[in-house]
Amino acid sequence: MKLDARLLLLPLFALLSCNANRDINFPTTDLTLTQVIPQPLEVIASNDGFALDQHTSLTVPDNMAWRNVGEYLINKIEFKTGLDLTNTSKTYTDIVFIKDERLEDDESYQLTISKDSLVLRAKDAEAAFRGVQTIRQLIPESSNDTLSTQPIWVIPTGIINDKPQYEHRGTMLDVARHFFSVEDVKKYLDVLAYYKINVFHIHLTDDQGWRIEIKSWPRLTEVGSLTGVGGGPGGFYTQEEYKEIVDYAAERHIMVIPEVDMPGHTNSASLAYNFLNGNGKEIEQVTSMAVGYSTFDTRKDTVYQFIDDVVREISALSPGPYFHIGGDESLVTKEEDYIYFVDRVEKIVELYDKRLIGWDEVATANLSSNSVAQVWNSEENKELAFQKDMKVILSPAKKAYLDMKYDTDSKFGLRWAGYIPVDTAYLWSPESYGSIDDVLGVEAPLWGETIRTIDELEYLAFPRVIGYAELGWTTQENRSWNSYKKRLAHHGQFLRRNNVSYYPSEKIDW
Ligand code: ACM
Repeated sequence: MKLDARLLLLPLFALLSCNANRDINFPTTDLTLTQVIPQPLEVIASNDGFALDQHTSLTVPDNMAWRNVGEYLINKIEFKTGLDLTNTSKTYTDIVFIKDERLEDDESYQLTISKDSLVLRAKDAEAAFRGVQTIRQLIPESSNDTLSTQPIWVIPTGIINDKPQYEHRGTMLDVARHFFSVEDVKKYLDVLAYYKINVFHIHLTDDQGWRIEIKSWPRLTEVGSLTGVGGGPGGFYTQEEYKEIVDYAAERHIMVIPEVDMPGHTNSASLAYNFLNGNGKEIEQVTSMAVGYSTFDTRKDTVYQFIDDVVREISALSPGPYFHIGGDESLVTKEEDYIYFVDRVEKIVELYDKRLIGWDEVATANLSSNSVAQVWNSEENKELAFQKDMKVILSPAKKAYLDMKYDTDSKFGLRWAGYIPVDTAYLWSPESYGSIDDVLGVEAPLWGETIRTIDELEYLAFPRVIGYAELGWTTQENRSWNSYKKRLAHHGQFLRRNNVSYYPSEKIDW
């Protein structure tokens, strides 16, 4: 649906005329009692109502990035309410996006909601997109049509000043153990965007499967992608399909971080190109869940030529600043070989203007402070990273691994890091892992050994990933389990309307 160009040209003073002449007796509503997740930084209620109805229109700054954000909101409002904001005959406007450079912090936005208008201010389209998610969540699930001749959706009035605590609020999806289609990934991304998640880390390669086309090394997918854990069909993304994911994420202001896991977790690569193998074992297809048995030959120059091609091709498709090299569980790589390898791969990553991220083991190498450690397991490695002035991303397995079962009844998932029910997933403090300046943020990984379908993916991800989104966005003072669980209960309707197969944990009054 197109944003009506007519609407873009409306002057702001049009706001002064307003819908006050429609004499609707709104129920008083309290902005502080809404169900927004993540909880915003500051909410000031003024206890009145703004009516979203068939007369509501939208004005946005006349520039493509902002127009795209406006169209996104228009489409989502139509999906939720049936209202078509482009189809109003009115000569004034009630929802207005304003570019405001004074809101200088990244992703910071302000919503000013009065009886007559809803104004979103932000410095750029990315920040506006975060604010749009708040607007979407403020719209009630059903219209209050008892007080008026037409259905209206009453949004409580007041002011919201909001910005994230951490710049990195992510989730990782393992498409190597089981492959997920472009359509599956898009569906997941669209729901993540609603919770202001801004990073999608995609684990593209592992022992059981290589999932991205590399044009200079075609056997990676011809041979390395044919199956996955437990056998089955496997799959891979062509470069065009991977780009489709990157573009779809970018439309939602989500950055994609590609991961090629090495020097361990590389059986599928060595199956395709035997010379890569560094432990002298005969290479066979593996479909078990075993880890730690594979390694590249870290002392062969041809291995680094291969890695250079892989990093170059994927980096060219990935506009974000990061390249994730895995680096975890290289249990059959000698320590000195591992350090030599990570040091050398860091240079390759930098050659293609990317910053290296690796699982926490990479902090044992001689990395620059520009590289990042993703802490999943080891306090010691986290401290090593801090000693090297590296930033860290927090993914502690016992708290943030989406592939852990919720409880003994869980249909999918593993339990090596323990059960992670919905409250355990929420009740921890990223702030306790290091100073806010040293931590980039929170990322919840979803390893794919036990899931094959989007329904199974959603069962493990939702609702826990919603809690991680709040841990990454909301300050510690503003977080509380009692508040969160009540707000989350209201999100069941959103999840059901979007056909998300969430786990209906008994800890939440859905
Ligand atoms: C990991 O869970 N091996 C990073």
